[in-house]
Amino acid sequence: MGIETSCDETSAAVVEDGVNLLSNEVSSSVDLHAAYGGVVPEIAARSHLEVITPVIEKALKAAKTDWNDIDAIAVTQGPGLGGSLLIGVLTARMLAIAKNKPLYAVNHVEAHVYANFITESPLKNYKLPPAPPQFPLLALIVSGGHSQIAYFTDHFNYKLLGQTTDDAVGEAYDKVAKILGLPYPGGPSIEKLAPLGDPKAIKLPKARLQSAYDFSFSGPKTAVLRASQRLVGKDFTLPSTELPGLLNESQKADIAASFQFTTIDTLLDALEHAVHEYQPKSVVIAGGVAASSALRDQISKRISSDVQYADMKLCTDNGAMIASLGYFMSKHNQHTADPYSLDIAPNLSM
Ligand code: KG4
Ligand code: ZN
Repeated sequence: MGIETSCDETSAAVVEDGVNLLSNEVSSSVDLHAAYGGVVPEIAARSHLEVITPVIEKALKAAKTDWNDIDAIAVTQGPGLGGSLLIGVLTARMLAIAKNKPLYAVNHVEAHVYANFITESPLKNYKLPPAPPQFPLLALIVSGGHSQIAYFTDHFNYKLLGQTTDDAVGEAYDKVAKILGLPYPGGPSIEKLAPLGDPKAIKLPKARLQSAYDFSFSGPKTAVLRASQRLVGKDFTLPSTELPGLLNESQKADIAASFQFTTIDTLLDALEHAVHEYQPKSVVIAGGVAASSALRDQISKRISSDVQYADMKLCTDNGAMIASLGYFMSKHNQHTADPYSLDIAPNLSM
């Protein structure tokens, strides 16, 4: 049983042997946050509290199983929003004690990679890769909170090659969407508008960093803001909140297309470099931004290795990836957590 509550999705899933997806229930509070243009932590936490028990019960039912068949519980310990993590961790601790199951504390960012190990399922609505990835494995992890490139030689044996020095890529999508007056979450909104615009219309700089594997998305986000202010004939003192009303539809589409193209190009510069240097057996793209078809399209044009993607529903936050990593933790003798004392780790890193 995997339990995920790090941000605005409450999810529980049952996965067998780390690879067979028996159920994956997700309840999102995204609609409650849309009015604010981003996740409101207090609203997210309250929503987790309201739905966590029914979501877990639904996951057991959908998997046609009950607690007798569950071998262990895995829960997201971090990184994430404190209040949100607390609901998942306290629920998992309570269940581990009441049902007498071993408890595994999972790193959410690592777990995104494990969504790619899920390759079997009796569920019909999942498009899964034919086989799990192989080691050595190169992973590009791109989500609302994280942008990392990691090189795994085996389970639990990896090197972080690079990461963002400021904003995560999904966060930059969300902020640019706000500038354009597009609904939260920004990734899907920008992806929908981008095909109507010209990706070369607005020149956005790519940050030059010391390491070829590090990213910066704060600069490009500010460049979008400045370009938008210029397009409407104003200077940098114009508040960004006025831009959605001043930019016309074709300008918005050009900005969306240019931002999307440059952002993905920046990610692929690093990925391509790493593929050449490390010659991995498998390349996986993980995290919410991996749901982007534009990303998949640009990858197919630039990266010659076979790149593996999880089903879209397993790219964004879900309990299945937590359960899968929990399984591999148990298989590889990683230590269990104490259900009487496990604490959240909002700033946990890879
Ligand atoms: O992994 P995830 O569900 O949550 C975190 O762990 O952060 O990722 C959410 C992020 C959001 O920033 C959202 O804008 C982005 O993933 N996202 C996308 C797409 N779908 C979701 N970004 C680009 N294109 C998409 N189609
Ligand atoms: Zn995530």
